[in-house]
Amino acid sequence: MNEIVTPALVLDLELLKQNIKLMADFGRKNHVGIRPHFKTHKCLEIASLQMKAGAVGITAQTIDEAEALVKGGIKSVLLANQLIEQAKIKRFLNLCDIASEVLLCVDSENNLRLLDKLAGAAGVKLKVLVEVDIGLNRAGRKPGEDAVHFVKKVLACPNIEFKGLQGYEGHAVLLSDPEERKKTAAAAMELLVGTKRLLSGINIKCGIVSGGGTGTYDLTGRNSDITDIQPGSYVFMDTKYLAIKKEFIPSLCVHATILASRGKGEYTADAGRKALTTENGMPLLLDKTGSIENLNEEHTRLKLAQGSLMPGDRIKILPSHCCTTVNLYDNVYVSGGEQVREIWKINRQRAV
Ligand SMILES: Cc1ncc(COP(=O)(O)O)c(C=O)c1O
Repeated sequence: MNEIVTPALVLDLELLKQNIKLMADFGRKNHVGIRPHFKTHKCLEIASLQMKAGAVGITAQTIDEAEALVKGGIKSVLLANQLIEQAKIKRFLNLCDIASEVLLCVDSENNLRLLDKLAGAAGVKLKVLVEVDIGLNRAGRKPGEDAVHFVKKVLACPNIEFKGLQGYEGHAVLLSDPEERKKTAAAAMELLVGTKRLLSGINIKCGIVSGGGTGTYDLTGRNSDITDIQPGSYVFMDTKYLAIKKEFIPSLCVHATILASRGKGEYTADAGRKALTTENGMPLLLDKTGSIENLNEEHTRLKLAQGSLMPGDRIKILPSHCCTTVNLYDNVYVSGGEQVREIWKINRQRAV
């Protein structure tokens, strides 16, 4: 492991597989599809492991991610977001010929008209989910009649196929009080499922009703009207999710090298804000009693409560937000025990 040049992202393969299995088993036991979110790892090898474990498809957030997945051979890809720019829509339509199923979200009439026109020009029948705003206030139609009215417009488009509903309860996933999380997620899902029921009442079938994240997979995933869930972070975990979800094991960390001892238990290491993100708080020292006090661009300043370190020693750091930290790296070192087994690519750049 010492041959790795730090700062480096290191993944424990066995722990990753345990997390993937736990989620896959949950899906099988509760008869809900797992459509893991690619935004967490952006890594085709991990997406393939998730598919092999039984995932119904992979969720993407950007056109770049969708392209990487389809070109990487993933057979069902849901872009759980809207594409507004023509150039991106055309790139998405090109994917419809390659993958067996690609799905896009839509929530506005102007966008719907443009999608229909461009799909017609490309000779493609574009499959869409109508996104419903179930409380996150980020995207989506209003639940109930507004969404139903919009679905009817979708059904009237000759080049668009209505496949179902998308609703993400992002305002619930990180609530620390389990009861509050449960209540908030249930209320959000009732808005999504209530819309589905209104559609069923007028004989409009939703093949897919998708939502959920790592913080709510076991709540939303037990709702019998939800067909699939989209958890991302569970594969790696981080300080933010570990505080509320103990069943998944942290499988990813950043390795750094001690540059200097500053006395009184204080040290400087070589991973700064360009190697670790902090929007969810300071990352955590692993295997050491101490804390990260500050991050500069290329430096960690840490303090040990016990023990000592020497310049050249390696430390392991648990990210506070795995998804945004991974996005800072081109590769992840995949470890088995103390050995590096493989190096996997992170598709953070535009796939061309
Ligand atoms: C559309 C969508 N689905 C699911 C998730 C869940 O991701 P995670 O499990 O990392 O919280 C997110 C998170 O941003 C999301 O935006």
